[in-house]
Amino acid sequence: MKLSSRVEGITPSGSIKIAEKITHLRNNGKSIIGLNVGEPDFSSHENIIQETKEALNNGKTRYSLVSGETDLRKEIISYYNDKFSTNFSYENVLVGNGSKQVIYNAFQALLNEGDEVIIPIPYWVTIPESVKLAGGKNVFVAVKDNFHLDIDAIKAAITTKTKVIYINTPNNPSGICYSKEEILELEKILIDNDIYLLSDEAYEALVYEDEFVSPSAVSQELAKRTICIQSFSKTFCMTGFRLGYMIAPKEFINNVSSFQGHLCGNVSPFSQYGAIGALKAKDLILSPLVQTMRKRRDLSVELFKELFDFTKPSGAFYLFLNIDKYIESGKVKDSTEMVELLIEEAGVALVPGKFFGMDNYIRLAYTAHSDEIKRAFNNIKKVLS
Ligand SMILES: Cc1ncc(COP(=O)(O)O)c(C=O)c1O
Repeated sequence: MKLSSRVEGITPSGSIKIAEKITHLRNNGKSIIGLNVGEPDFSSHENIIQETKEALNNGKTRYSLVSGETDLRKEIISYYNDKFSTNFSYENVLVGNGSKQVIYNAFQALLNEGDEVIIPIPYWVTIPESVKLAGGKNVFVAVKDNFHLDIDAIKAAITTKTKVIYINTPNNPSGICYSKEEILELEKILIDNDIYLLSDEAYEALVYEDEFVSPSAVSQELAKRTICIQSFSKTFCMTGFRLGYMIAPKEFINNVSSFQGHLCGNVSPFSQYGAIGALKAKDLILSPLVQTMRKRRDLSVELFKELFDFTKPSGAFYLFLNIDKYIESGKVKDSTEMVELLIEEAGVALVPGKFFGMDNYIRLAYTAHSDEIKRAFNNIKKVLS
């Protein structure tokens, strides 16, 4: 079949290839510790399940409002306003099928052919593809050694075609949270150059020490230029519900809603009721998750510093491990070879940094039980020592 150049231009998701390899090895009897997966190993809380079942029993099985159930939009905005001391209305919220689709919506709504999007490296794999699908051009910029924003590099990348700066905080894969100072510097750039900020905050509640800064809450000026993207997937352990949302100026929400109406209509209403259940039980859900992830982060940092250099993450659930010394010693030639070596010889699955734009790194997700993390470390140590 002759495909469109749009679809032919897509780079297939590398993580899916790894998942297939793991399945193949497991089917052949090999035990693999999966530290590649970007989702918590927690079940969705019973309150979520209960509210979803009730919604199904109450006939919430039909089309619903394109921007999302009003009750959910109200719960979302009261969560955000309470947490960040802001004053948004539920009309500033649009609910979509995972933040992945909400990001896609945002680029489709913002970009004309050839418009440029500045993306700091490393980035989450889907972003450049989403930009390309909207006809945009990816302009990658380096970050500092500690993965914080290099404001001068961003300024240097701006052209008359620049429309959006994309950031992700807490960051996948580095785990870094951007400081208020960094966000204020960005604000100045946005205003001076009349551009927008797409702030991907899919991991917003998974923060272990730094104060997390949501740009939309920093100033009214910034809120006018920011599309804040959040998700129920990671923070509420609801990856399968496919629920994400944007908070943005009302006019933008209305325009994106017209787009979403033609793209997919709405998110399944019973999923949305599950999310209402999540927000009602937020304290019961978030604090055990954050406590567990902090312990696993501390354990992973303590163990893996013996084998790799990395910046200690303050959020999300990843370590981004530098493999320069193994490349220099000739042990491996790049991140793909390192991941293959570790899957085959250590029985541990990680993700090549190449997928995030840095071929001298590999990503470890501490989304598995502490015992698994310890076992993975011992196996990797045997292979690399
Ligand atoms: C940075 C980032 N943003 C967004 C997403 C999308 O998550 P979802 O579509 O499940 O909300 C992910 C998933 O891995 C991610 O890592």
